[in-house]
Amino acid sequence: KIVVIDFGSKYNQLITRTIRELGVYSELHPHTVTAEELKSMQAVGIILAGGEKEDMFSIDSSLFDLGIPVLGIESGAQFIVKHFGGASELLDGFSSIDEEKQLYGMRLHPDAEKTDNLKGKIQHFVEDICETNASWSMQTLIEIEVEKIRSQVGDRKVLCALSGGVDSSVVAALIHRAIGDQLTCIFVDHGLLRKFEVESVVDTFSNQFHMNFIKVDARTRFLDKLKGVTDPEQKRKIIGNEFIYVFDEESAKLEGIDFLAQGTIYADIIESGTATKEVIKSHHNVGGLPEDMEFELIEPLKALFKDEVRAVGAELGLPSEIVHRQPFPGPGLGVRVLGEITEEKLDIVREADWILRDEIAKAGLDREIWQYFAILPDIRSVGVRNEKRSYDYAVGLRAVHSVDGMTADWARIPWDILEKISTRITTEVDHVNRVVYDITGKPPGTIEWE
Ligand code: XMP
Repeated sequence: KIVVIDFGSKYNQLITRTIRELGVYSELHPHTVTAEELKSMQAVGIILAGGEKEDMFSIDSSLFDLGIPVLGIESGAQFIVKHFGGASELLDGFSSIDEEKQLYGMRLHPDAEKTDNLKGKIQHFVEDICETNASWSMQTLIEIEVEKIRSQVGDRKVLCALSGGVDSSVVAALIHRAIGDQLTCIFVDHGLLRKFEVESVVDTFSNQFHMNFIKVDARTRFLDKLKGVTDPEQKRKIIGNEFIYVFDEESAKLEGIDFLAQGTIYADIIESGTATKEVIKSHHNVGGLPEDMEFELIEPLKALFKDEVRAVGAELGLPSEIVHRQPFPGPGLGVRVLGEITEEKLDIVREADWILRDEIAKAGLDREIWQYFAILPDIRSVGVRNEKRSYDYAVGLRAVHSVDGMTADWARIPWDILEKISTRITTEVDHVNRVVYDITGKPPGTIEWE
């Protein structure tokens, strides 16, 4: 494996993924990783991924004595030169700093092709200098993880909270591949999911994978708790807490469970950005499960990037609608019905959202747009239908391009497609007489409206 040490480069995740795409396993670690740890990881190459600024982080410099090739990038290269008392200016491109010790440095050309340039150099280092061969693939990853799960779990039992999202679905499928019936999945239907979502989850996990699958119908329970609540943060809290209560109650009915499976992925663990932040943080996917749960955690996707998680899911036979599902907030439609949530409003937003999704898919834009959905603002306006005045709801449409949800740009959906969507919503969905399209970026807006 090649270890990338986060030394402040904004490209550190890109570098890690580039190496994996070459078929060589790679991990990103904070600058606090020790030489001893690198040795026990059996690293065959180390990349000190620094940024343009000459921030010098502290690292365990005995890693230079491990006999493992080290490539310093930008300030990482400067660090190596300084450490060995060199005063030499690094040349542009790739240079050998100290051949005996196998130290290399590179600077990036300050041009638009920076990342291509970077990829080529990384490939040279990984393949020619570290002498790796491409043997890492999704299949080998699955085999390795399956073996790990089997030896960790033995003949004991695992519980998984399935949300229908990509990460928890892939975790369930992977663990099921490893231990079959020793896995039980709990799926809480809180009534805030999109149209056909419950059916798709049940069909996949219960009917196709034949998992031990418990579907809890908690729709009324959630609606009751949300009655009269209008504040978005309060709604989030209620939905999150209620989820925990329901999950707790259901899991208490089961006996002899030792493990809880979590869909934690790489992005949840390593914050993108720089080594100035302390990198590793623990992250609970299921909206914070109770602390006193006496389960051991299983997190088999911890080392994977989102697109790798999708590839594993596809390899395990999950349907494309699950593997390529767009991001969907935990509180679901609860934060897309603005103001008080009622069954009627949920139905309206669910139907409008379905039409939007249907037309986006028909237009072949479903993989292109990062996230798209309908919102039901708490307003009514005057309209005319069948020559009669109406006073009904307005539906908002939102579609954005984004990489990680931190910033976003509104999608330029062709007007004729927007027109089709608008016409369908106002004719097919009762109590809607107006459709608006949100043309706000993030910032200053957010992606969701609540
Ligand atoms: P915002 O609205 O903050 O959304 O621009 C950024 C991304 O996060 C999702 N989102 C949530 N996800 N629980 C979640 O699990 C939440 O409470 C929540 N709020 C927003 C949103 O859908 C978008 O992808």
